[in-house]
Amino acid sequence: MTARALYPGSFDPITFGHLDVIGRAAGVFERVTVGVLINPRKNPMLNLQERIDTIREAIDEQLSESSPRIDVAAFDGLTVDYARQVGAGFIVRGLRAVSDFESELQMAHTNRKLAPEVDTVFFMTALEHAYLSSSLVKEIAAFGGDVTGMLPAAALRRLEG
Ligand code: PNS
Repeated sequence: MTARALYPGSFDPITFGHLDVIGRAAGVFERVTVGVLINPRKNPMLNLQERIDTIREAIDEQLSESSPRIDVAAFDGLTVDYARQVGAGFIVRGLRAVSDFESELQMAHTNRKLAPEVDTVFFMTALEHAYLSSSLVKEIAAFGGDVTGMLPAAALRRLEG
């Protein structure tokens, strides 16, 4: 069976936590599409193309063996519609802590209602990355703090400009 999974998110910027989830998904699914949400309501730190390029570089550099089986692309609209469009039977999300669970559960049930044939699977983010969040990293970077060790080299380069 050829199974494709979609890992949707904002990835502004990609963190080691995201990369860990992508690696875990690539260990289970034959093909993984990382879907970067085009969200006109959010004001991202990195524009869409920068986010896509950063994710691609991080995957090529740190998940090189799986890289040919991982696509990175932008999407607009509903995640389930994009899952159908790319032929993904699964949506992947990461869980860092119990606090993530409530909103993820709600999203998974909503997505199942919208598309019963698409299942959501969760990967537990590695413990050493479980404290990471893009929004905290953005805040630290905005105030000139050191985010080394939180972001893949590709994202650090992008932040350094
Ligand atoms: O990285 P994030 O911001 O936690 O990802 C959230 C994301 C992109 C997965 C979620 O906001 C989403 O799926 N947005 C697309 C619109 C949609 O499908 N909404 C209904 C989801 S229940």
